[in-house]
Amino acid sequence: MTAPDQAVAEFDRPPLIRPTISELQDSKIVEVWKLGFTTPDVIGLWVGEGDLPTPSFICDAAVASLQAGETFYTPKRGIAELHQALIDYHRDLYGVRLAAERIAVTSAGMNAMMLVMQAIISPGDNVVVVTPVWPNLAATIEIMNGEVRELALDSTPAGWRLDLDRLFAACDRRTRAIYLASPGNPTGWVMPAEQQQAVLEFCRRRGLWIIADEVYARLIYDRKVAPSFLSLAAPDDRLFVVNSFSKTWAMTGWRVGWLIMPAGLAPIFDKLMEYNTSGGQTFLQRGCVAAIRQGEGFVAETVARYRAARDLVVQRLSAMRKVRVTRPEAAFYLMLHVDGMEDALHFAKRLVHETRVGLAPGSAFGAGGEGFLRLCFASSLPRLSEAMDRLEKVLD
Ligand SMILES: Cc1ncc(COP(=O)(O)O)c(C=O)c1O
Repeated sequence: MTAPDQAVAEFDRPPLIRPTISELQDSKIVEVWKLGFTTPDVIGLWVGEGDLPTPSFICDAAVASLQAGETFYTPKRGIAELHQALIDYHRDLYGVRLAAERIAVTSAGMNAMMLVMQAIISPGDNVVVVTPVWPNLAATIEIMNGEVRELALDSTPAGWRLDLDRLFAACDRRTRAIYLASPGNPTGWVMPAEQQQAVLEFCRRRGLWIIADEVYARLIYDRKVAPSFLSLAAPDDRLFVVNSFSKTWAMTGWRVGWLIMPAGLAPIFDKLMEYNTSGGQTFLQRGCVAAIRQGEGFVAETVARYRAARDLVVQRLSAMRKVRVTRPEAAFYLMLHVDGMEDALHFAKRLVHETRVGLAPGSAFGAGGEGFLRLCFASSLPRLSEAMDRLEKVLD
């Protein structure tokens, strides 16, 4: 051993990677999804995206921008035209007037969520998360060395319900925020406006942030849009609203979304975004302007298509003897409870082998998800019918 090596050996060698990062878990959805690569002819209903490509009027706007040479650095929080389109969108949908400085165009909902956690979580802080929940969300808190404190929705015969007393009791001195996704993934749960008002008042009293994930706000089957915290909050309330182009306009691969923050935080987010991505892409944002300005017809068609898909799978699954389902009010997921299923991950893998239908294990979505499988019904009716025929063999 040489002298310098000896000197190093006197200290503990630092880990290669921060333990928090090396200990991050693989998503259990991905674990089942990978089986799809080796199993021929699988009908995969495990991942949360639609089956149609982005409509051409959106793609054309992005292509035209590229061809016009819009390939340079761009303002950190997004181009002015997209801010204006989003201001008009929120005015028309919710009757709220947003200032452009409250909007940040992000690399989809995922990056918006990460930016929020970077801004508010110190090591040891906790976020109370209403579950079952999209698994990536928990990772954004863990990466910041925060604690995920799960509060499960109740599964009732009438659908999923949130117990506000239990939610408030879960908050303590180290709680920085309450995270709520409404409409929810994987449940399709929609938070009533009265509950939003109660949460807003509680968070005001306690100085907590509300992180409202509204990426499925438009995929709702009995009205035009889901209730939003934006309709209730004042511009200086501690509220972040996360949204995305991914689901509503069939743009999952574009990776563009937006974050609404309280007035006055723009300089903070300018810095954070500079050091994360240094801003988005102008040409993608031109496509997003087209989505907002010309996309209402597409949204209406998409919702009608998903409503028919939902009705078909609910009707078929309800007739299977081992299955219990409630009709989701929104989003494009359905949680099916399987009688006697003890390990959802194991069962989901079994279904791939025996029926060649891919579903996600409910246990991937945290507390309250075990005992369930998640099915994404954003697909064509013939494909869904075929999936139901196959599932029947095991579930009936
Ligand atoms: C509840 C929820 N929030 C946010 C996202 C993020 O989507 P994206 O990063 O594609 O905008 C997803 C994606 O599945 C989701 O289900």
